[in-house]
Amino acid sequence: MRKTILLTGGAGYIGSHTYVALCEAGYDVVILDNFSNARDDVPDRLELITGRPVTFFKGDLLDPAVLDAVFTEHRIDAVVHFAAKKAVGESTQIPLDYIEVNCSGLVALLKRMRAAGCFRLVFSSSATVYGEPRITPIPEELEREYKSPYAYTKLMGEQILEQVGAADPRWSFGVLRYFNPVGAHSSGLIGEDPNGIPNNLMPYIAKVATGELPALNVFGNDYDTPDGTGLRDYIHVEDLARAHVLSLSALLEERGHVVNVGTGQAYSVLDMLRAYEKACGKTLPHVFAPRRPGDVPILLARVDRAAEVLGFRAEHGLEAMCASSWAWVSRMRNSAAA
Ligand code: WQD
Repeated sequence: MRKTILLTGGAGYIGSHTYVALCEAGYDVVILDNFSNARDDVPDRLELITGRPVTFFKGDLLDPAVLDAVFTEHRIDAVVHFAAKKAVGESTQIPLDYIEVNCSGLVALLKRMRAAGCFRLVFSSSATVYGEPRITPIPEELEREYKSPYAYTKLMGEQILEQVGAADPRWSFGVLRYFNPVGAHSSGLIGEDPNGIPNNLMPYIAKVATGELPALNVFGNDYDTPDGTGLRDYIHVEDLARAHVLSLSALLEERGHVVNVGTGQAYSVLDMLRAYEKACGKTLPHVFAPRRPGDVPILLARVDRAAEVLGFRAEHGLEAMCASSWAWVSRMRNSAAA
């Protein structure tokens, strides 16, 4: 029988790509999203990509009536929980909002799942739970720490799952620690679309490429790295989406896990800029700026566990990450101008 999966935050950047991957893998998928950081037309776009109607609930995880509607109208076999606030800088200004949405939202979801007899959940965690890691590439067993309220909520989310799982063996959790997701869907119909000036590197470079921003500020060129700029493990969002499909299959066989999801390959800020220049065929201006507070020189995943436990290996390289991002942003610009 076909399984039904609930995606909280399923209209967002990673959620929408995972929606498509799950449909392609033969699941029925239900979305719950409050659209606080997603475009209203994402369900229509998902319908275009998958060729089937999208079932979605517009509402908040912290609204018990909405959660009730989802779980009474559908027999949910497992949940992939994306819905969360994710801007590190903003979290230092409004920590209570982050704790409420990311932690209380998770607790409300787990309680409603338990009431419905659904005990399988994939949790969107982050490399941010490693704080300033002492080892590179980072193994999953490295001690966790937090350096921001955002990181605190992700670490606390993991700990909540540990406590809940220890108290009741019916639960199985898949904890996916994302490194730096970038790129867009091959259809050109969904991708990352941050409001205002982007905080993250690739969407910022994309706006320099479209001419919306004048130049990239490279935060720090005096790190102890080959070109002095920060190194990160960028992963194509379609690879990341596939990791969720594999995580769910493991959970449906009661195989809980905690894994890094990255490529195992690090690129610098300047590598990213050059690769994007190739993808868009333009020279992109940059200026060197001071280090951004809280940044670390290198964040690189050890990827053996994801391969062993989930059979996951990233397939897309840097060129595909930049090309898909450029295809998406240029299409969006053209349709806005039309
Ligand atoms: C990457 C590199 C910057 C912008 C963040 C969160 C993390 C996760 C992913 C989850 C760094 C440099 C950036 C710019 C720059 N979030 N940079 N100029 O900081 O590795 O991770 O996003 O939801 O928790 O912390 O990603 O893309 O912001 O930065 O030079 O305008 O690019 O210094 O070296 P980061 P990022």
